[in-house]
Amino acid sequence: MTVPAVLVLAAGEGTRMKSSLPKVLHEAAGEPLLEHVFRAAAPLRGPVGVVVGHGAERVRERYAGRCLFFLQKRRLGSGDAVKSAAAWLKRRGGDVVVLCGDAPLIRPGTLKRLTAVHRREKNAVTLLTARVSDPFGYGRIVRDAVGRPRAIVEHRDATPEQRRIDEINSGMYCFRAKDLRAALKRLRPDNEKKEYYLTDAVAFLADRGRPVGALCLDSEEEVLGVNRRSELAAADKILRRRTLEKLMAAGVTVVDPDSTYVDAGVRVGRDTVLYPQTFLKGRTAVGRGGRIGPFSFLQDCRVGDDAELRAVFAYGSVVGPGARVGPFTHLRPGTRIGAGARVGNFVETKNSRVGPKSKVSHLSYVGDAVLGADVNVGAGAITCNYDGFRKHRTHIGSGAFVGSNANLVAPVRVGRGAIVEAGSTIVRDVPADALALERATEIVKKGWARRKRRELARIKAAE
Ligand code: UD1
Ligand code: MG
Repeated sequence: MTVPAVLVLAAGEGTRMKSSLPKVLHEAAGEPLLEHVFRAAAPLRGPVGVVVGHGAERVRERYAGRCLFFLQKRRLGSGDAVKSAAAWLKRRGGDVVVLCGDAPLIRPGTLKRLTAVHRREKNAVTLLTARVSDPFGYGRIVRDAVGRPRAIVEHRDATPEQRRIDEINSGMYCFRAKDLRAALKRLRPDNEKKEYYLTDAVAFLADRGRPVGALCLDSEEEVLGVNRRSELAAADKILRRRTLEKLMAAGVTVVDPDSTYVDAGVRVGRDTVLYPQTFLKGRTAVGRGGRIGPFSFLQDCRVGDDAELRAVFAYGSVVGPGARVGPFTHLRPGTRIGAGARVGNFVETKNSRVGPKSKVSHLSYVGDAVLGADVNVGAGAITCNYDGFRKHRTHIGSGAFVGSNANLVAPVRVGRGAIVEAGSTIVRDVPADALALERATEIVKKGWARRKRRELARIKAAE
């Protein structure tokens, strides 16, 4: 038994999105609509072809190497779109599952069921349909006296009686390729839109006594198409909810699913708690027993077990197990925070390594730096990594202590176990276990403040 080919129709213009981006590249739950369709079709294991038209170049660019592309030169309807892949379908034979690039909510299990029904019943075409409360706008499924699908009638071509049918066409089908090709040759644009409707293939096959079947869903959730931005937001919400349900089933606590935003490709370990207003994006992976949020945004980050990230914005960073970060911390790309380290409030890091158990607790900038283990960076101490022309590196050895408000002017090295006094601007390397101090002489005038206050009081009294 050969696997079915998968053909995704994505040449539509998406006029109602009012966008310069092709509709199928708009993102829901952090990924393009087309990506969700690909994910749903993946278990079918078949080769995937995508019909592109509007914005074809951008779709090709994004998905080069992931699928075959067929160009529909003029947008003459869904039947015409399938025709652009006719040669491929002929070569492959077997079955073809037709999907819509703008219907991202279809589940993999449903497509498996569709192909199973199709094979079991040896159908020429098996329709994926749904019973909905408001069928407005959809093609309606017309069945014969014994309940077999006879035809699909588009909303605008339907009679008032047909419009009362609440079973609608999802726009997804499993065809026997040979029957599909025969039907494609007979499509005519004799409808209100003057388009070649793929849906007319159903009546064509039924008229010729070919077996037509249907898998009818009792909810419309999976067949919802995205045509406008409000539908994009609705799809985003449903996809996100599904991801959270999966995480919760696997042992993750999500305090408030309505305000937690996790992309489909993200992994989270059991017993981790996600607090409200947390965004986990892209390829982020969080270990077990962590506490993330409230108010955290992690893009493409790896977080070890038992880490705590409160109000953290992090991009392309790695946080080791048991580390504590936040609140109000910005981890920029290339940050690696070691096990048990502490990076506190109003700290920004970039392209830097903070060794295990090191502490950068308050108000620091750490850029292009390597900190060993057990380093302590005092409040307000910073690396001066940029001289106005180039970036330079700072090295701080294990066990070193950098006092508050120190400036480490890179390139510079602070040796292991060295101490940099508070307020010093360090421009030369500090050897291991040395003390480095750079300060103006402190002047103390005894009783000066008291005398000043008395003098001011006298002036005030005289006024
Ligand atoms: C289509 C179905 C309708 C079904 C509905 C479900 C037809 C004639 N009607 O209607 O029965 O209820 O989907 O959402 O198919 N496309 C192209 N090239 C074209 C035209 C369309 O690639 O020239 C693609 C679109 O990008 C889309 C799909 O085909 O992915 C369906 O086309 P669309 O115009 O959205 O059809 P609907 O009116 O929604
Ligand atoms: Mg549509």
